[in-house]
Amino acid sequence: MSKVGITRAHTNIALIKYWGKRNNELFLPMNSSLSLTLDAFYTETKVTLDDSLDRDYFILDNQEQSLEETQKITKFLNLFRKETQLTTYARVESHNHVPTAAGLASSASAFAALAGAMNQATGLNLSHQELSTYARRGSGSATRSIFGGFVEWTMGYGDDSASSYAIPVDPADWNIGMLVIAVNKQKKKVSSRIGMKRTVETSPFYPAWVESAKTDLVDLKQAIHARDFIRLGEITESNGMKMHGTMLGAVPPISYWEPDSVKAIQKVKDIRDMGIPCYVTMDAGPNVKVLCRQSDMATIHKLLLNDFKADQLISSTVGSGITNLTEADWLR
Ligand code: ADP
Ligand code: DP6
Ligand code: CO
Repeated sequence: MSKVGITRAHTNIALIKYWGKRNNELFLPMNSSLSLTLDAFYTETKVTLDDSLDRDYFILDNQEQSLEETQKITKFLNLFRKETQLTTYARVESHNHVPTAAGLASSASAFAALAGAMNQATGLNLSHQELSTYARRGSGSATRSIFGGFVEWTMGYGDDSASSYAIPVDPADWNIGMLVIAVNKQKKKVSSRIGMKRTVETSPFYPAWVESAKTDLVDLKQAIHARDFIRLGEITESNGMKMHGTMLGAVPPISYWEPDSVKAIQKVKDIRDMGIPCYVTMDAGPNVKVLCRQSDMATIHKLLLNDFKADQLISSTVGSGITNLTEADWLR
């Protein structure tokens, strides 16, 4: 007997960042965050619950993964098994249409897709809000990839797992785009998980970061509701920089920046000075993301070609929430 679930989830880039947990086991964050789901980057994952398996297997991009990587998957699948009282092992096959562990949010699309596929395979039928609390426990940023457009991940209260979930804030269907300047697609040396833990534990700037992120979120939501793109961009750029400043205060310091990250930021400022509104944000990696109007994306792309190669520039429109796929979609 086997049961199958297949799901596609898009990555998301935070405009108000999540950088630190108040509960490491439950993935409860120190502050609420807000992101934009991207159409250009996604993960597709197939779960086969099969009575004949002797353990869980995890195959990523056609490569069987190590026992250590597989254990992370097992721990995640156990959340669903506990809820459904199922004991069957799973074969998890996944394809990343996004560089893995390079600061382009592969963990976000990965665990949103895996949660969706498991929801389907087990027949648990959770609502999107409930499902986001499951995705959260694979990777915090995955909470937000359940929905499309602008999505808030509300921090919740205390140690109450059910209170920290994703909320779709706005479809972002008002001329919003994001362009990625890929500086380095290699796997990062310090994972998001380790980087944020060290920052919480050692950076003297951490309490100021949390306070500031709270105000930024209120202001950013106001900008979204007013469709004020300039304000949206200004708050986004400022919040990202403050996160990286807080990391520099960690002991030992953390920096994901490379010389080309600085170059990219400078170029974006130059383009802005030419009168095209565009703003940068960066995550746990050297790659730079440019928030801009969708209608300006082609012009910005062309201007960036003066300093970066075509294969370093990826333009994206707004992405949708998770979608369940059929076996026919999977094989295509
Ligand atoms: P990123 O910036 O790509 O999100 P992270 O350090 O947050 O980097 O997470 C990368 C980790 O996420 C990988 O090392 C792997 O454990 C996990 N991951 C990435 N893609 C998948 C996938 N498709 N399925 C399951 N786990 C994945
Ligand atoms: C800088 O969600 O990858 O991209 O919860 O430990 O898996 P874990 O970390 P992850 O961290 C993302 C950090 C960030 C900001 C953000 O996406 O909000
Ligand atoms: Co991640």
